[in-house]
Amino acid sequence: MHALRRFLDTSVGRKTVLAITGMSLFGFVVVHLLGNFTLFSGTEALNEYADKLEALGPVLIVAEVGLLVLFVVHMGLALSLNRQSREARPEGYRLRANMGNSTTASRSMLITGLVLGVFLVIHIADFRIKKIMGNPDVADLGQAVVDRITSPIGLVIYLGGIIALGLHLRHALQSAFQTFGLSHPRWTQNVRCASVAIATLITLGFLSIPLYLLFIGQGAAS
Ligand code: HEM
Repeated sequence: MHALRRFLDTSVGRKTVLAITGMSLFGFVVVHLLGNFTLFSGTEALNEYADKLEALGPVLIVAEVGLLVLFVVHMGLALSLNRQSREARPEGYRLRANMGNSTTASRSMLITGLVLGVFLVIHIADFRIKKIMGNPDVADLGQAVVDRITSPIGLVIYLGGIIALGLHLRHALQSAFQTFGLSHPRWTQNVRCASVAIATLITLGFLSIPLYLLFIGQGAAS
């Protein structure tokens, strides 16, 4: 415990835990995206998928608490590192150098993270909290998702959240690869390309859901 605290007192320690929690959250995002693809088979398919998750009972509760802890630790460390880099300029330069070239995404990391945080609060209130509270609006979860995402305000919120996620991931993956030691100049270009490619795939994957519901499959998804 003492050793962990000492580790977290260093920038490298906090950056490492930031990268580990970030990659774990990324794992959740991939699984969540694949689960959401069930909507392409109709709202019933999404309901069946959600019922299977619900049937996990205590395992689901542990996973959700774990997810919440990951989010809180990740956000806390990101804010702490950001504050530190603003307070101690030379230290800030070192951290930024460690994060690779200064792209638009890297400069806006904090903003995209905060937008994503706001999106997640709305998103979890939209479905998960309502479901836990037994709200009849989400008795047919699949239909509730279709109604929410295809409403004008819902569409703006979901497109905003998904774009923020894509921009955040684009730089976060690159930064995590470097934190885990793939920082050799020979790898820089490959790491950057891989990060952009993975972030783009995830973004297009999430975007395909509202676009499909709007332009192709609202009838088919019901
Ligand atoms: C088109 C995009 C999306 C759709 C259709 C969607 C759908 C859903 C649904 C239906 C739930 C509730 C599941 C249940 O109660 O069984 C949910 C929960 C959740 N979603 Fe999404 N989601 C989308 C995008 C995102 C994005 C971009 C993120 C994160 C970056 C995200 C993070 C979460 C989280 C953290 C939960 C709570 C998980 C839990 O407590 O079990 N979602 N989503």
